[in-house]
Amino acid sequence: MKSSLNGASWVRQMFEEGEVMKRVYGEENVFDFSLGNPNLEPPESLKKALKALADRPIPGMHRYMQNSGYSETRKAIAEYLKEESGLSFEEKHVVMTVGAAGGLNIVLKAILDEGDEVIVPSPYFMEFRFYIENSGGRMRLVDTREDFSLNLSEIEKAIGVKTKAILINSPNNPTGAVYDQGSLEKLGELLKKKSQELGKTLYLITDEAYRRIVFDQIRLPIAFHHYPHTIRVTSHSKDLSLAGERIGYIAVSPLCEEADELISAIIFALRTLGFVNAPALMQRLVAPLQRNSVNIGEYEEKRNLFYSALTSFGYDVVKPQGAFYLFPKALIEDDLAFVKELQLKRILTVPGRGFGKPGYFRIAYAVDKKVIEAALPGFREVAEKHSTGKK
Ligand SMILES: Cc1ncc(COP(=O)(O)O)c(C=O)c1O
Repeated sequence: MKSSLNGASWVRQMFEEGEVMKRVYGEENVFDFSLGNPNLEPPESLKKALKALADRPIPGMHRYMQNSGYSETRKAIAEYLKEESGLSFEEKHVVMTVGAAGGLNIVLKAILDEGDEVIVPSPYFMEFRFYIENSGGRMRLVDTREDFSLNLSEIEKAIGVKTKAILINSPNNPTGAVYDQGSLEKLGELLKKKSQELGKTLYLITDEAYRRIVFDQIRLPIAFHHYPHTIRVTSHSKDLSLAGERIGYIAVSPLCEEADELISAIIFALRTLGFVNAPALMQRLVAPLQRNSVNIGEYEEKRNLFYSALTSFGYDVVKPQGAFYLFPKALIEDDLAFVKELQLKRILTVPGRGFGKPGYFRIAYAVDKKVIEAALPGFREVAEKHSTGKK
């Protein structure tokens, strides 16, 4: 714990420095892009349903339930997944969790033995390391390509006797990258081949916390179609802006040969890690909202605004197709020093080293549009300072 604390989260560190700056300069004069905390409000229908439940409570609605969650909620999600994928999802394939973070910890606990390796494409969401280590596993990072797409030949090289799973996250935090159908197809083929060679099941864990936040009218491919041993972990933190309410779920592919045993292990892990069950009230509220989300167009508009401004100032940015992050190259080698330069303009971002990718920095833009507009001159001034003549 002590050594983990010493390598404290860069996101939290920047966020906390920001809190100090806000006290000094005033909240409206600090442009905080440090934390991926959705600024949009949940849909009106959720608030109405919440009020209706408070006015007309269902007897027993605050009691314990089965560990996997309410049957009605799991059925509603299974219906949605069936419609989305055409696969025969049933209630039993869905387990309600305390956010995607809770879900990931549960899945890892269910599948990992001490010393097992989990492959993670990098840059990556830094909490993955701790989640994997919580269950005695080891994280094995594999760099993505320049455009942050999956590097399949490097993934192939990294798979060995200790590998138990690969954990992918698309749309991605911190890059906003979305993995296309072709790369998921190839990944599925690779995992089938390697499972056979190694004589054991390799799992594909997909962190899809940002699944509904995609732009440019792209259709996100469905990993379940490309590999039978796929476990999706997701939540409504981002798509319904319910991050503080801690509601998510795990969906195990109906094509997974040992699905029943795996689901039993997942439910056991959920119970014995002490989650017991996902929040009861939220389970009821999200069940009818499986086809709803906050207005994704607002995030797309902010992506467009930020991306075109930064590129016009000379920043080198891969255009993200989802989530609410930009991951530009820092204009100097030292990403931490660069983030400090932005701080002098009262702009808070996170150095790429916090995501396994020094030389870059992350901007989380789930903030009001006016915060972005107010911060742009600062980004421009810093770019001008380092101008290399490219515009
Ligand atoms: C990639 C990724 N996975 C998981 C989570 C955790 O999400 P939740 O709030 O659903 O636990 C986050 C939160 O920012 C995230 O960025």
